Amino acid sequence: MRKQKRRQIFENVEIVDAGAKGKTIGKAPDGRVVFLTNAVPGDVVDVQTTKKRKAYFEGEAITFHTLSDKRVSPECKHFGVCGGCKWQAMGYEHQLFYKQKEVENNLRRIGHLDLPEISPIIGSQKRYFYRNKMEFSFSDSRWLTLEEIQSGKEIKNKNALGFHIPGMWDKILDIEKCHLQEDPSNAIRLATKEFAIQNDISFFNPRNQNGMLRTMMIRTSSTGEIMVLIQFFEDVGSKRNLLLDHLAKSFPEITSLLFVINRKQNDTIYDQEIVCHAGRDHIFEEMEGLRFKINAKSFYQTNSEQAYELYKVTRELAGLTGNELVYDLYTGTGTIAQFIAKKAKKVIGIESVLEAIEDAKANAIQNNINNVHFYVGDMKTVLNEDFVNENGKPDIVITDPPRDGMHKEVVQQLLNIAPKKIVYVSCNSATQARDLEMMKNRYSIVKVQPVDMFPQTYHVENVVLLEKL
Ligand SMILES: C[S@@+](CC[C@H](N)C(=O)[O-])C[C@H]1O[C@@H](n2cnc3c(N)ncnc32)[C@H](O)[C@@H]1O
Repeated sequence: MRKQKRRQIFENVEIVDAGAKGKTIGKAPDGRVVFLTNAVPGDVVDVQTTKKRKAYFEGEAITFHTLSDKRVSPECKHFGVCGGCKWQAMGYEHQLFYKQKEVENNLRRIGHLDLPEISPIIGSQKRYFYRNKMEFSFSDSRWLTLEEIQSGKEIKNKNALGFHIPGMWDKILDIEKCHLQEDPSNAIRLATKEFAIQNDISFFNPRNQNGMLRTMMIRTSSTGEIMVLIQFFEDVGSKRNLLLDHLAKSFPEITSLLFVINRKQNDTIYDQEIVCHAGRDHIFEEMEGLRFKINAKSFYQTNSEQAYELYKVTRELAGLTGNELVYDLYTGTGTIAQFIAKKAKKVIGIESVLEAIEDAKANAIQNNINNVHFYVGDMKTVLNEDFVNENGKPDIVITDPPRDGMHKEVVQQLLNIAPKKIVYVSCNSATQARDLEMMKNRYSIVKVQPVDMFPQTYHVENVVLLEKL
């Protein structure tokens, strides 16, 4: 009851902006900002607040007086309930506009940086079905929609295979069709669910920690190969084989059919043994004639086509002539390192995940690339003076850290190394801005190029070229 009282209604709020974590923005009557989850810039709405903070409110639009002309009909029937693809109701050109604005705002407001004109964001040709990897969860107590509950009908089958409801670790939304991964992704997922239900193969219950089927990962690739990995909690060998054999027979295009028996509380597979049921334990991706071996644990950019655009931008900004020593920090499976190798004298990749570095080395051999070298370890420990003395001072550093950005000791070490150029690739322009601020007295920002890897979401990738002052 008390909670209800604190909720406020603001009438006729015009939504004027979009940004921070995908939320859209209006103004409360007292001038405070209101962040909304279900409106589009240009809408005029009544807002019910859900949270009140000193400087802002959070809320939901409950009545729409004017619908924005930036709106489009979402493609997906699960839109609004599913946690993914939150910007589907906004036209793609407007999504790009707000992503570009977000990058600029972060660089200016967080980094306080002198910026050149920011290059227009590179949009994705594919607006849907662009992901090469999806992970789904099984549950024996699926999320019920309001209509289902209100219908009063008895719901017999509560099994689900889909996505977590945002913020709820134990509730899974059953997905009929996901618009993120090309077919036969949907067909494989639906066939798995149907066969499991027909054959009494139990779905996981995260609260009670029982049931067989836990998660499913599907990886598609530009070579047409498909990997499917099913994670089981309880293991009944005969039922497991029945399901996997059924999948292998129904989908001959699956070239790598894997499973994991995971009795841990959490469902990450990175510390688990992966067993190959049929086919190979890996698939291949291809880019510009290079082949990359991808196993179940490998990191590979999830939008392959836009990854190609991102890598081309990175290579172009590096401006290689063939004489440079390049460091590729946070190299993953060494994809950027190999992509630029032909145009550099030597490339050195550093990465913390051992398996990724093993893949990177194997891929370089497969691709007949002899001028790349890979090292494994935490960046702030590996990238030190001794490392530079041993491997040579780089002319160019490419850095592509995770969302948290670079550790400040790594930024400091980059300043000590003082390469002529740094190409900073980032999936989080807020942490990128923070890191760039530390470098601003020693480097000038010459180019800023946002790239959209994830249409229908608020995520944006950004590449910045820095040159030594
Ligand atoms: C955004 S990914 C970049 C991967 C690669 N550049 C690509 O395009 O495929 C970031 C990488 O940084 C690695 N990483 C995260 N923290 C690290 C650390 N402290 N030291 C070294 N590598 C780290 C992750 O394992 C991941 O492979």
